[in-house]
Amino acid sequence: MTRPPYRGNTPIASEPMSMHRLVPILLLAALAGCGPGTEEPTSTGGPSSDPTIAPAAREITIGMSQCNLGEPWRVQMNKDIEEAAAVHPGLKLVMRDAQNRSETQQSQVREFIQQQVSLLIISPKESRPLTRPVEEAMDAGIPVIVLDRKVEGDRYTCFIGADNVKIGREAGKHLVKLLGGKGDIVELEGLMTSTPGQERHKGFIEGIKGSGVRVIFTADCQWLEPNAQREMKSALSAHAKIDAVYAHNDPSAHGAYMAARQEGKGREKQIRFVGIDALPHEGVRYVTDGILSATFQYPTGGKEAIETALKILGGEKVEKNVTLGTRIFTGESVSAGGEAI
Ligand code: FRU
Repeated sequence: MTRPPYRGNTPIASEPMSMHRLVPILLLAALAGCGPGTEEPTSTGGPSSDPTIAPAAREITIGMSQCNLGEPWRVQMNKDIEEAAAVHPGLKLVMRDAQNRSETQQSQVREFIQQQVSLLIISPKESRPLTRPVEEAMDAGIPVIVLDRKVEGDRYTCFIGADNVKIGREAGKHLVKLLGGKGDIVELEGLMTSTPGQERHKGFIEGIKGSGVRVIFTADCQWLEPNAQREMKSALSAHAKIDAVYAHNDPSAHGAYMAARQEGKGREKQIRFVGIDALPHEGVRYVTDGILSATFQYPTGGKEAIETALKILGGEKVEKNVTLGTRIFTGESVSAGGEAI
């Protein structure tokens, strides 16, 4: 199935050419709330009853497939998306939660294609299984914004996310400094079939290269705190000396801390814990409370996704890859809002 790009929900394949060109202009006017397409502002942007608005301009629908809502970071991403979308009258957002199953996420994307959404935003669970569905959306003329975790190849409209290799590298450099150049590390990885896990590992190895810091225990914790807690328990019983834990996200760093505390030998006070995400009510809080020695901000990109979606729908050309910045929060910098890196 092929169709012209950037259209609203109403099929326009049989409309005259002039209408095609009009659509982006009408859409933008409607979204900006300043043209003939102005609607009553509603968070879900229900259909307008104004007969003067061309059907395709009345409502545009963005389908968002979120891989799971188990971690606070993903709840925050959805909140950022919803808040950014709510200020645009006429923009309808349909959010789906794949509940951490790639097959469910594949079906969700295919449903969005069938429903002919105007644009798709996806934060994929894993890169490989979601690559084909994203390509199918592109083939159907639906622009796709890939958020945070990547798909394979380059058949998408725009990728938005922070530089995970850089974050991993900075985490490595931070630990080398903190440990005075040498020490034994437990690395609690994120899901290694997802790109942030692979890239955070790669960067970390680069960051500790040439130092006396070495990784003595590694486990794929799939981003989940209970898994990290369980794996850390094994690491603690296998290793009498652990100097630091590098966890690919803050829930895992916290799980590791809890395991060390539950061991009952006071090792949670000697081991340095480093995480990633830096949500104010999660990782940053742990740093303030002295649980983590550092966390690295991993912006959700939710607001940027909506801003980019509107540009794409308005016919504007956007960058293929948008790299978001990051900050480090340590005991010293946390009260000043961290430090840009
Ligand atoms: C949430 C999460 C975050 C992590 C991101 C990586 O599902 O695990 O904690 O930074 O995904 O994609």
